[in-house]
Amino acid sequence: MALKQRIIRWFEGAEALDRLSRPLAKVAARAGGPTPVKNSLSGTWLGHPLHPMLTDVPIGAWIAAAALDIAGSPSSDNAAKGLVGLGVLAAAPTALSGWSDWSDTYGPEQRVGVVHALGNLAAVVLQSASYLLRRRGRHRQGILLSMAGLGAMGGAAYLGGHLSFIRGVGVNHTAFETMVEDWTDVAALADLASDKPMRASAGAVPVVLVRQGDEVHALSATCVHAGGPLDEGELVDGCLRCPWHGSIFRLSDGSVVRAPATTAQPSLQVRLEAGRVLVRRAAT
Ligand code: FES
Repeated sequence: MALKQRIIRWFEGAEALDRLSRPLAKVAARAGGPTPVKNSLSGTWLGHPLHPMLTDVPIGAWIAAAALDIAGSPSSDNAAKGLVGLGVLAAAPTALSGWSDWSDTYGPEQRVGVVHALGNLAAVVLQSASYLLRRRGRHRQGILLSMAGLGAMGGAAYLGGHLSFIRGVGVNHTAFETMVEDWTDVAALADLASDKPMRASAGAVPVVLVRQGDEVHALSATCVHAGGPLDEGELVDGCLRCPWHGSIFRLSDGSVVRAPATTAQPSLQVRLEAGRVLVRRAAT
């Protein structure tokens, strides 16, 4: 196994990190409690996670500053200083959105997330110190600190990529589901108790059925956020709340009412025929 994988495995299993991460996660959960705050930080208004998009600003600004430092002339010193400062300013909202996402992780992902955050904190401290030195005219020392900051940021970014692409944090957990195209019989209407989610299968895809009066709604049973079982969720005002992190989806179309989910839950068309419930992929 490559050294970097061994290091990441070690972070994933380092239970000592839980002593730091658990209290921080609790604070994040409390701070991000109100729906507008959680929706804003998660990126629900945007339709996908906000944090990865915001990271482009400090990363881009600091890399551009480094390019000017390496290739530029004394006349570009001011521009480089401005870029370093821009990156430091942009780090605040970036960290807040990441903190919110991280608070909905557990175990190995949460431990790696803590190390990711510490690496980024080191990068911000180094770049902030670099900015102050540059303001005092000590450009060369500022460049050295910026380069060290870039190193810390690169390590932290690697761990962020590991969380998303290897551990699946922040990805749509229904992305590879293929919904049935043809009307498919999934349950007997008589088996559906009113206002009680029930799990069924539409082809290879688990779906959750909810009967409300004469109507039946069907959504994918796998929560888009992290794969929670929506058939174990709770009904709230015509919506379904995920039992894992509290995302709320409208039964009528799967749209998100409350984060951390950022994209709609796949919904299905429903037809009732001869006492049976039939579903098929909703028209797009
Ligand atoms: S799995 Fe996280 S809200 Fe559903």
